[in-house]
Amino acid sequence: MQRLNKPEIILALDVDTLEKARYFVEKLYPRIKSFKIGSQLFTAYGPEAVNMVVKKGGRVFLDLKFHDIPKTVHKAVISGSSIGIPMVVSGSAEIGKEAKQAVSLPIFMMTVHIKGGQAMLEEAARGAKEAAEKLKITKPFIVGVTCLTSDDSKKDTLKEVLQAAELAKKSGLDGVVCSALEAAQVRKACGADFIIVTPGIRSSKDALNDQKRTADVKSAVKAGSNFLVIGRPILEANDPIAKTEELLGDL
Ligand code: C5P
Repeated sequence: MQRLNKPEIILALDVDTLEKARYFVEKLYPRIKSFKIGSQLFTAYGPEAVNMVVKKGGRVFLDLKFHDIPKTVHKAVISGSSIGIPMVVSGSAEIGKEAKQAVSLPIFMMTVHIKGGQAMLEEAARGAKEAAEKLKITKPFIVGVTCLTSDDSKKDTLKEVLQAAELAKKSGLDGVVCSALEAAQVRKACGADFIIVTPGIRSSKDALNDQKRTADVKSAVKAGSNFLVIGRPILEANDPIAKTEELLGDL
């Protein structure tokens, strides 16, 4: 996995209108270069939301947490890989000249639920590879969700997360989503090239909201996180730019 640079903040665009999402992208890009589009925004606006981010210069982490039969997830990953690439004929692998020249990858990362099982995870990984070959794009990362960070920490959470991470790795995924509390152990078990995405980032001054297994930026980075997904602490800040600067300062 050669494309991992230093840790990066991803802003979760968990808002209900495209206008609000555009407002945050315009305000925060290029301080923040990657934006998470999840179920809320994608269900309402679909590819339009992705295109909006790409037009402003950002790249997208499409967090739809696929969990379905292997074939459906395979196809969903292929569909996701082609969103935002110019001239892609919907649903097919035909591409035009412009797409061949595409330098940046609009959707650089997608999620699946590890609970979907090995066959589903393998199909997701295969879908990303196939799409990259057909579309002549860099392969998007596929990362698996271990346990949601809104779940309470239980006696066996760490064990569950580690088992899930090992299954993800064995099945050909690029990495996992886990809380910063488990990140160091995942890094140890899965190696330096395995991507670790950590949501639930909070400073002591921030509201926890529904998050339970939280950590601050410094601890997440120390634990080995590559991508820190942050939503409400920035979206609900009185001054989102100042809040972003503060969080970036801790990177
Ligand atoms: O607002 P907040 O910073 O809590 O947002 C965290 C984001 O990370 C949300 O978009 C949520 O869907 C996502 N997420 C999470 N826990 C996971 C996977 C994703 O909180 N395990």
